[in-house]
Amino acid sequence: MRLVRGLLVVLLSLCGSGAQEEGFTKVVEIREFQETAPGDTAGDSIGPTTKQTTPDIWAEVRALRDMVVELRVHLQLLQRENSDLQTRLSSGESQLLVSKSRIEQLERENAEKPKVAFYAALTDAGYVGPHNTDTTLKYSKIFTNIGSAYSPATGFFTAPVKGVYYIQFTVCGNHTGLMGVYVYKNNQRIMFNVEWKEDTLYKYFTNSAVLELMAGDEIHLVLPSTYSLYDDRDNHNTFSGALLFPL
Ligand SMILES: *[C@@H]1O[C@H](CO)[C@@H](O)[C@H](O)[C@H]1NC(C)=O
Repeated sequence: MRLVRGLLVVLLSLCGSGAQEEGFTKVVEIREFQETAPGDTAGDSIGPTTKQTTPDIWAEVRALRDMVVELRVHLQLLQRENSDLQTRLSSGESQLLVSKSRIEQLERENAEKPKVAFYAALTDAGYVGPHNTDTTLKYSKIFTNIGSAYSPATGFFTAPVKGVYYIQFTVCGNHTGLMGVYVYKNNQRIMFNVEWKEDTLYKYFTNSAVLELMAGDEIHLVLPSTYSLYDDRDNHNTFSGALLFPL
């Protein structure tokens, strides 16, 4: 029994200031009492200490248990939040990938989109016509010819891709008589514009069209027989066109 008491003293003196350490020491202490108490008179004198200590331990155990339960609930909440965040993050990542590939596709399409635009004036030679036959007008003075779809040698514009094209022309005359042009799509006349010019200075008109063309379709302007135009370095007669968008 003396040995037990000595042990207790040692245990008690070893008690740290930390709550956990203290709790552990007390548990050991109780066990010592329980093992040695029967038939030991000295043990009775410290019996009350045991009774006093026990409820504290259970309270602490309960508190610890509550704390563990609380922590577990908290952990579960954090795990749920974490998995929610991961779900949102991965869906965000896949959306980002989709957007990125869409942007790349648009950039590719834009880079590959054919660029077609031309603008040319007729001649520096002065009067053109009248002729006995219809004559293809060769607009020979090139100002713009992106994509080289217009040929000044033939006067033909050839659509490089299927698409919607805008064309425009201005006609000028400076003689007394008929002035005008036919517009041809391949061999088909699709437009005719005519004016009678009185005995006055230059006369003009401008017209335009929006045309759906297949790749290879040709557009050119024709001076009808007996008609005349006038052009010089001031570019009175012009022909222009551009691809609005491919189809
Ligand atoms: C244009 O026509 C007017 C009127 O007939 C004439 O006076 C003028 O000389 C002409 N201009 C040219 C460059 O032929």
